[in-house]
Amino acid sequence: MEDFDENLMVPSVQGVSEEIQENSLRPKTLNEYIGQTKVKENMKICIEAAKKREEPLDHVLLYGPPGLGKTTLSTILANEMNCNIKITSGPAIEKPGDLAAILTSLGENDILFIDEIHRLNRSVEEILYPALEDFNLDIIIGKGPSARSIRLDLPRFTLVGATTKAGSLSTPLRDRFGIINRLELYNADDLNTIVRRSADILGVEIEKQASYEIARRSRGTPRIANRLLKRVADFALVLGDGNITLDIARVALNKLEIDNLGLDNTDKKILESIIFNYKGGPVGIDTLAATVGEEADTIEDVYEPYLLQIGFIARTPRGRVVTPPAYEHLGIEYKE
Ligand code: ADE
Repeated sequence: MEDFDENLMVPSVQGVSEEIQENSLRPKTLNEYIGQTKVKENMKICIEAAKKREEPLDHVLLYGPPGLGKTTLSTILANEMNCNIKITSGPAIEKPGDLAAILTSLGENDILFIDEIHRLNRSVEEILYPALEDFNLDIIIGKGPSARSIRLDLPRFTLVGATTKAGSLSTPLRDRFGIINRLELYNADDLNTIVRRSADILGVEIEKQASYEIARRSRGTPRIANRLLKRVADFALVLGDGNITLDIARVALNKLEIDNLGLDNTDKKILESIIFNYKGGPVGIDTLAATVGEEADTIEDVYEPYLLQIGFIARTPRGRVVTPPAYEHLGIEYKE
């Protein structure tokens, strides 16, 4: 296993400045966390009940497209529960021993956050079950005939699992989460509030219409909104006096090749490929992926949710089809 930071079990190779800066934009409490109203309301009740019982929170599964704040939410849960959090990811836990090392390092009531939990190894997953259920860890010591199994008591902890693919989770794992929350793409109003909050933290002035322009073009995703805000702020500093006006925001977003619905070149490539190579569809995801030159998973997790949300593609039993509004947006004539 890679080296881990003492407090945050993020592999230390990842901890570059972008991460640190993003941290400063991250809300620390549920009240500061914008949007996801249903999830927040549910979590508030669970937190209050757990506190009243003086017990750790039940295990939580967060799922939904990337960039919607699953990690942020888990750090907020730790904050609200006044406990420590250790952060790791499915692929980083290679062997049962790696997981055992993490679990035995937890304190009472701590949160263990496992990102991309659908990518846990089967052998790792199996030792996780008794840990989640009874806070026991069965480890095997030695090899061959002298091998024996010992059982360790673990502190009562909360697992927060995050995934973009709830469907890829094995049933036994999914069944061990008491709290299951789906994060939805954000609407433009909520993204606007997020952009304004971030601009405030970064100390940049931004016109009302400019923040809304960024919000509208962020495809429902706070991570994209914050990234675009920083890039637009660069343009404002170089082309103007540092203040973000609507004009500057538009120029910058166009230069970044983000169109007025937030579609980037890959979105367009996906739509055009279905239109020109497959007569508008239906086409299967693997065929489409090969044509576009992206992984099928990336198309499904990163691009498709927004294209589905704005109604530019539809899923049918025989594959994806492009809808008439997408043709219109791309300026391509639609033929039945
Ligand atoms: N930054 C990223 N996601 C956020 C959210 N949901 N609320 C506030 N700030 C955020």
